[in-house]
Amino acid sequence: MSNTSISLTRFLIEEQRADRINPDLRLLVEVVARACKTISIAVGKGALGGVLGDVGSGSDASINVQGEAQKKLDVLSNEILMEANAWGGHLAGLASEEMDTSHPIPDKYPRGNYLLLFDPLDGSSNIDVNVSVGTIFSVLRCPDGVTNPVDADFLQPGTAQVAAGYCIYGPSTTLVLTVGHGTHCFTLDREVGSFVLTARGMRIPEETREFAVNMSNQRHWEPPMQAYVGDLLLGSEGPRGKDFNMRWVASMVADVHRILTRGGIFSYPLDRKSADKGGRLRLMYEANPMSLLVEQAGGAASTGHQRLLEVQPTGLHMRVPVFLGSKTEVEAAVGYHAKAG
Ligand code: AHG
Ligand code: MN
Ligand code: MN
Ligand code: MN
Repeated sequence: MSNTSISLTRFLIEEQRADRINPDLRLLVEVVARACKTISIAVGKGALGGVLGDVGSGSDASINVQGEAQKKLDVLSNEILMEANAWGGHLAGLASEEMDTSHPIPDKYPRGNYLLLFDPLDGSSNIDVNVSVGTIFSVLRCPDGVTNPVDADFLQPGTAQVAAGYCIYGPSTTLVLTVGHGTHCFTLDREVGSFVLTARGMRIPEETREFAVNMSNQRHWEPPMQAYVGDLLLGSEGPRGKDFNMRWVASMVADVHRILTRGGIFSYPLDRKSADKGGRLRLMYEANPMSLLVEQAGGAASTGHQRLLEVQPTGLHMRVPVFLGSKTEVEAAVGYHAKAG
């Protein structure tokens, strides 16, 4: 690490010195980052770590509140984040994709003023095939006067987030973070064991020629999505007047990281398969944190009908349709939905 490099710790101390975060939030981000380093080590061991595959099998499979068969790394990552955040005194409660309800911090530890929500391992279907996965987290304030938070205390719109981020376990382990003043990228220096600032103030290009969607769902989409993607596929011969490329990793962290790095639009729209649940992706610990990171980098995030960060949550595991990325392209996609009313 060169002597001019800025560690995550130094970055956060300078944010605190600039009055952009307080000591408790700084501590919370450091704890989450440290837990992500531990998860990165477990993910990196792959088959050698005995952590691949599902928890149980057949009738003994472990099914989470989402109705998904849990991977061993889903459960391990959740445990790592729960343990790391229990004793620090900065949190009042936690919620996770892998836990049915939220959990207040155990009575034996002091409680702080924040609520942490996380997707401990995003992209689980990619773990066993060695494709990038990640951890997504979102931080809210615990409502004033609440010392024993319950699920309802977590149901705040995305605009209430005081911090959000993800850690992607790919060729490099990279933490992308916002505390409300820009989106910044830190790469893990494995020799030193600390995250180093590698991009301050990420900016998403407003235009793009790259879209990310699971095309196998095309026949299940609503007409506006059919029309929007149909025009993308017509390329320069169609109304968009330019050719598009497509990428779909099926790890939201990987698709969003690509978009934060070089632009693009990511969409998981409503489809007939998931319409009864409101969509595929979860608002509180996938869509909201990613939307804040994208907006802080000059991009846009929508459900197709409203600004995603303004959705009023009705449940901890609420799902929403997602369009996020390059501002002009998200506006174009929303335009198809507006026309349809
Ligand atoms: P998770 O692994 O945390 O359950 O999330 C997976 C999500 C998201 O990461 C990705 O964009 C999407 O599922 C992929 O869905 P498909 O497998 O339907 O493409
Ligand atoms: Mn996920
Ligand atoms: Mn997950
Ligand atoms: Mn899952």
